[in-house]
Amino acid sequence: MKGIILAGGSATRLRPCTKVTNKHLLPVYNKPMIYYPLNTLLKAGIKDILIITAPQGAGQYLNLLGSGREFGARFTYEIQDHPNGIAEAFIIGENFIDDDSVTLILGDNIYEDDLSGAISSFVRGGRVFAKIVSDPERFGIVEMDAQGKVLSIEEKPEHPKSNYCVTGCYIYDRYVTEAVKHLRPSGRGELEIVDVHNWYLERGELDVCVIQGEWIDAGTFDSLYRAQILAKEKLQHRMII
Ligand code: TTP
Repeated sequence: MKGIILAGGSATRLRPCTKVTNKHLLPVYNKPMIYYPLNTLLKAGIKDILIITAPQGAGQYLNLLGSGREFGARFTYEIQDHPNGIAEAFIIGENFIDDDSVTLILGDNIYEDDLSGAISSFVRGGRVFAKIVSDPERFGIVEMDAQGKVLSIEEKPEHPKSNYCVTGCYIYDRYVTEAVKHLRPSGRGELEIVDVHNWYLERGELDVCVIQGEWIDAGTFDSLYRAQILAKEKLQHRMII
């Protein structure tokens, strides 16, 4: 299993803090934001990790994280020239992924749960992590039957079929690099991760793990504030970095 941390994007919602500092380098309590997704991957035993950043500030990630040796891992770096969508990570990372499965985590997603069981038990297809939310219209929403089988995934639905939102960590087998070659940019000009989920769903190969603990996408001032509290009160004692 390989890992990718996607830490590009524009971070417009955190301006002016992100005008000169990259979002994933902002502090979340006592660590830079990117340490949290990195910790999630390392805790799951993933040691070969690709870090994808925007061109601006790319050198700062290298300065901060280095070769990975300090973390008992190996880090590779790539640039995403434009924020062309989350699924572009599998195009940028094609050579890195090679013939392995891969866990992609977004650089601003902070999980209270330990995802190592779900990552180490993964065999094939695709796996997403869902969390119950009160405002499903804002997210990718997964509909499941009583047995937990995925029926549909819809991006920001007007009439959500459930309250289970797809969070920012996804596991795919090596065919994901094939899947993204069939994608076309959406109306907003991005290669959408929901289209990758649907590619696997059409093949009956997508499953979902429901997470119990807190999950925060720290991309707004309010969620960043909540992330600080989560990090201080619950996460810092359990971090391995
Ligand atoms: P978003 O929060 O959707 O986008 P953003 O970070 O550009 O922020 P804003 O909406 O405020 O302008 O992205 C979620 C995560 O995915 C974030 O960590 C950045 C990353 N990302 C990329 O690295 N490349 C991309 O093309 C996209 C769409 C997101």
